Amino acid sequence: MQKKFLFTICLLGISCGLHAQQIPRNTTVGIDEKVAQLLAKMTLEEKVGQLNQYTGDRLATGPVTANTTKYQDIKAGKVGSMLNVRGVKDTRMVQEIAMQSRLKIPLLFGLDVIHGYRVTFPVPLAEAASWDLKAIETSARVAATEAAASGQHWTFAPMVDVSRDPRWGRVMEGAGEDTYLGSLIAKARVKGFQGNGLGNLDAVMACVKHFAAYGAAIGGRDYNSVDMSERMLWETYLPPFKAALDAGAATFMNSFNDLNGIPATGNSYLQRDILKDKWGFKGFVVSDWGSIREMVAHGFAKDNTQAAELAIKAGSDMDMEGHAYIANLVKLVNDKKVDLALIDDAVKRILRKKFELGLFDDPYRFCNEERELKVLNSAENRAKARDVAKRSIVLLKNDKQLLPLSKKLKTIAVIGPLAKSNKDMMGFWSVKWDNDHLVSLYEGLQNKLGKNTQLLYAEGCDLADTAKCNFAEAVAIARKADVVIMAVGEAYDMSGEAKSKANIHLPGAQENLIKVVQKTGKPMVVLTMSGRPLIFNWTADHVDAILHTWWLGSEAGNAMADVLFGDYNPGGKLPMSFPRSEGQIPVYYNYKSTGRPSPTDMASTYRSGYLDMQNSPRYAFGYGLSYTTFALTDLKLDSHKFKQNDSLTVTCNLKNTGRFAGEEVVQLYLQDVFASVTRPVKELKGFEKVYLKPGESKTVKFVIGKEMLSFYDQQMKWGTEAGEFKLMIGNASDHIVLEDRFELEN
Ligand code: GLC
Repeated sequence: MQKKFLFTICLLGISCGLHAQQIPRNTTVGIDEKVAQLLAKMTLEEKVGQLNQYTGDRLATGPVTANTTKYQDIKAGKVGSMLNVRGVKDTRMVQEIAMQSRLKIPLLFGLDVIHGYRVTFPVPLAEAASWDLKAIETSARVAATEAAASGQHWTFAPMVDVSRDPRWGRVMEGAGEDTYLGSLIAKARVKGFQGNGLGNLDAVMACVKHFAAYGAAIGGRDYNSVDMSERMLWETYLPPFKAALDAGAATFMNSFNDLNGIPATGNSYLQRDILKDKWGFKGFVVSDWGSIREMVAHGFAKDNTQAAELAIKAGSDMDMEGHAYIANLVKLVNDKKVDLALIDDAVKRILRKKFELGLFDDPYRFCNEERELKVLNSAENRAKARDVAKRSIVLLKNDKQLLPLSKKLKTIAVIGPLAKSNKDMMGFWSVKWDNDHLVSLYEGLQNKLGKNTQLLYAEGCDLADTAKCNFAEAVAIARKADVVIMAVGEAYDMSGEAKSKANIHLPGAQENLIKVVQKTGKPMVVLTMSGRPLIFNWTADHVDAILHTWWLGSEAGNAMADVLFGDYNPGGKLPMSFPRSEGQIPVYYNYKSTGRPSPTDMASTYRSGYLDMQNSPRYAFGYGLSYTTFALTDLKLDSHKFKQNDSLTVTCNLKNTGRFAGEEVVQLYLQDVFASVTRPVKELKGFEKVYLKPGESKTVKFVIGKEMLSFYDQQMKWGTEAGEFKLMIGNASDHIVLEDRFELEN
């Protein structure tokens, strides 16, 4: 019955859908009036229907609830949105069912378009390593263009969760440990997804997630509790959400975690007091997958009915796959336990977005097969993916200037479980397309070198299974080669949702493989690929060169080859600290001094440190090398005293003192030396990525104003305090080159 039913609907739909004209960009003029008129016609059941979101049949991104009435519910007006319905054909088919409903209210289609739709871009943490806001915006722009051409109205991105814990697998989805960098990246991603505004046929709604503080899950264990001070919440975890909201984000998604004892989904402090009241958010909040229902498991609701009541009161407007609202809200309103006004507010927020997207003018305006065919996977989009990918690569080590390699090398040994992998270049959260091609490292080398160089290959060992090793084969080909290129790291699903790890060393026997190959004495460059910071201390100490290449997406191999052979000089900087040991976690650059700071980076008598490990990470936030060298000189302040309503101009000179053109990220850090609450030893407050040819120089300027110096005082009042500040400029958080001090006066 169901298949036939769908087929019939499909035929009907096609006849009336093909003639849909391109509706000009929808304006928001008069939308509130239209929403009010429609709301007045709706029954309570239909209103609750708008707050209900189901997943499609072919892709689940959470624990699935059996649902045999999905399509009947849509026809009956009991569904407002679907997620995980992909492609023009399927979205049109399901939309046609919605058009059978009494009021013909179109569905919203949402999908996790996190780093690309058909062309896969580097995972978001990799893109953050580019510190290139334009490149990051471009990535989101291409993703939106392809997703919108393929029937999507809404992406569940950007994920803006700050995280200082690489055991948490979802660090791959965010922008790392820093609030300032994360806020700028959040803004760039919202701008990329929403383009020139909702209603344009190449724009999708952004969804800022996960609200809030999900990245601080205790132990880095996904879905775990979060407990933090108001100051930590407001100073470290909330600003990227506010930046995304200020950039015009259409929707928010709440988070699975409880925050200080209250699940985010049922947290009116977060969703009403902060988001909708203080910040004036006019869009709508979707729950995370089943997070309303999961408040029972949290021990916060006694049953699904109470979960629905708590969630709607707390400001969760739409129930993603929780089956809580659709089953309970009508009765809760009729029993006077929930005000109809709360339902109406949520419905209005959702309807407003449907009007803004132009779906009431034409529910099929995003369902154009010709456009889908033309836009997806274009050569232009792949070229953009390659450009963003090479900008995301971080050069961690380059002893003896081994890199860049010569294209005249006779024989290269390509070794490691990721050397020929295509699938793992995808990373987690990709809109899986079977026929999409992801360029492996090996293919990238072939494309770059053609027949000029002989490539020898050996896997050497399995990604994870220590029983599957063939070191001898790897050693044998290494011995025949001029240079060894090794590709090690994580499989595409070793970081991501529900992928927390207590051990973040290189998996399996991979580092042992590196050790035995290194014994051949051949020049060796190791490419480490992952969705998170990894630990590989022996490799870091013993091999000549290391590139961290994350998971780079469709053009991974070509981008890696561009960097390996110097067609692109790497300029990436780490957006997250790489620990020496899991025992150091959380390890981050903007730590507090404590009353007994460790002067030697090691524990010493009565100093804050470990007996068995330095405090510092293996690789610091903001760190990344280049094939060239840069000099930072001539620090100048236009004054050493200024009042808080004035500003202070700082300049310095950056010179390319090496042999290659390249980019450097000049980073500005500030420290409030004494304040009414303890302040971090340094905080990133500005940066500029500068491209220079050999011998070229540029003056880099920063303007310091009171916002950069503000913090929450003992009464949680945001503002500045007069006093001394330390100014630091460098090319990594642990490599400060220029320093000075200035005073803020009352
Ligand atoms: C998942 C994730 C969320 C995602 C949603 C829909 O559980 O937490 O980030 O957008 O469900 O797939």
